[in-house]
Amino acid sequence: MCGIVGYIGEKPAIDVLLNGLSHLEYRGYDSAGVALYENSDIEIYKASGKLINLKELVKDKEICKTSKKGIGHIRWATHGLPTTVNAHPHTCNCKSLAIVHNGIIENFQELKEELLKLGCNFVSETDTEVVAHLIAHKYTKCKDLLEAVRLSTLEIKGAYALCVMHKNAEDEIIVAKRNAPLLIGIGEGENFIASDIPAIIDYTKKAIYLNDNQVARVTKDTVEIYNSDKSQGNNKVENLPFEPISLSKMGYKHYMLKEIHEQGDVVRNILSGRLISAEEDVKLDNITIDLKNISRIQIIACGTSYHAGLVGKYVIEDLTGIPTDVEASSEYIYRNKTANKNTLVIGISQSGETADTITAIKQVKEKGAKVLIITNRPDSTMARLGDSLFSIDAGIEVSVAATKSYMAQLLALYLFAIYLAQNNPRVDMKAKLKEIKHDILQLPSKIEIILNNKDEIIEISKKYSGFKDFIFIARGINYPTALEGALKLKEISYINATGYPAGELKHGPIAMLDDSMPVLAILNDGIVYDKVLSNCQEARARQARLIGVASGMDDKNKEIFNDLIIIPKISDFVSPALHAVVLQLLAYYIAGYLGKDVDQPRNLAKSVTVE
Ligand code: G6P
Repeated sequence: MCGIVGYIGEKPAIDVLLNGLSHLEYRGYDSAGVALYENSDIEIYKASGKLINLKELVKDKEICKTSKKGIGHIRWATHGLPTTVNAHPHTCNCKSLAIVHNGIIENFQELKEELLKLGCNFVSETDTEVVAHLIAHKYTKCKDLLEAVRLSTLEIKGAYALCVMHKNAEDEIIVAKRNAPLLIGIGEGENFIASDIPAIIDYTKKAIYLNDNQVARVTKDTVEIYNSDKSQGNNKVENLPFEPISLSKMGYKHYMLKEIHEQGDVVRNILSGRLISAEEDVKLDNITIDLKNISRIQIIACGTSYHAGLVGKYVIEDLTGIPTDVEASSEYIYRNKTANKNTLVIGISQSGETADTITAIKQVKEKGAKVLIITNRPDSTMARLGDSLFSIDAGIEVSVAATKSYMAQLLALYLFAIYLAQNNPRVDMKAKLKEIKHDILQLPSKIEIILNNKDEIIEISKKYSGFKDFIFIARGINYPTALEGALKLKEISYINATGYPAGELKHGPIAMLDDSMPVLAILNDGIVYDKVLSNCQEARARQARLIGVASGMDDKNKEIFNDLIIIPKISDFVSPALHAVVLQLLAYYIAGYLGKDVDQPRNLAKSVTVE
């Protein structure tokens, strides 16, 4: 969500901070700020809006030439408007410290009331400023910044990743964390702090992950870690998984377009070593959970990952008969949990840091359920919580709108469902599995056929970019594709788009149809093909403009569509992976024609670390 960067070493700190923040900008981006330390003084610069405003603000500042220690933050507002005054870093009355924070302090009102009684003046509406005053207050008593931070964290309820500098603590930055990611990048004569790897990957490939409730003193040569009871932490130095190159746009106009184009390789990558040929079994060596007694599966996820989960339900139930529910994490956590030791919970998350999903997973673990995590971040909190990990290895996804991670999640679910089915002695479905595996193996080249022939999609996007409302319809396994296509369009173009089961059109939404509301229908050869066609006829009879995305179409049916995008022939079962690519491209080009900020749509964040 928000992003944190810190630096202590020999380089100009501002360069490291701004570079790091630019790599975190995709996570949250309504304001940004830095605090720079020099000769027992701290200067704070903040700007609302995008990072470029902060860059402009600091470009001629003297301290930028000399300061070798600093902290920076990029914000996605939770408490208070995205103004300069609410931007981080925050400070205390005497401006002796600077603090940046990710997360939410739940008891900030109570703490604030106490601090007001002690004479603290608050200038912002944020929960973070409360922590700044609290630490400053503790520091005046103990004169040790690490201890002041540790004591403060004992009083804080909620989630935090904190990074703190004090005027009198010349050689150190203090960091702390609970339920929000934070890592310390290890360099030679320099150390880095970040809320996520991209911020520091240009400088180091080694890092220490802080655990919840730990606090650490970071100097340019050392890192001391303490648990909340002051005992020493024995965190290991780990290798970071990303290459700097993966953060470049590689000539594409936007990260989103680059990431859409990477999907053929993303599929090849996830299949590699797991699905070699249609004749061989799927191998998932990392899944160590005993699946023999699983009688029920619950998939828990948010946003696009939730849509992948909905496809997963169809796939798993079809191949295994195991009852499978899909739950939006934010709904699931406030309900009576029926999970037990015979339940397999699959947590899906590209970031592995989504707060609602993390909470839900902790809850089902308490109920004794086994947890499989499907994520693009094997280094994430969620990955560490699961009993087994399916790392989808799609490479870092920078664009806020998830595309290649969705593709990889779909593939993970296909592979897992086949794995379950092939190991289930009760049913022999060798022939069916062979066909599915054959189709999956053909996916990369079929995805690339769509990507290499996208002129028609670009034309259609242009034609429809002026409409204010869309309905996406489909049935069966592509109903989630309709939901995902509509979500993509909403997210990046701000057009009102709704995904609907095609059969439900006549139970309400049909009332809205006329020539101002295009209907996009997803059709694939299979059991529901004729039914979706009938629903298209119903829409057409109400003068709706019809866009079809189909794997083939008879000439006699073609004419009901105003526009038709034909994708390569594919079985219904595997088709969500192909249809998704078309809908991603449509959303991308429509948003482009509307001049929207495709990679960083307003109000959204890549990683939602608050509930
Ligand atoms: C945010 C992102 C979405 C993502 C959702 C769930 O809203 O913008 O792209 O689908 O979070 O995130 P997760 O990391 O759990 O998949």
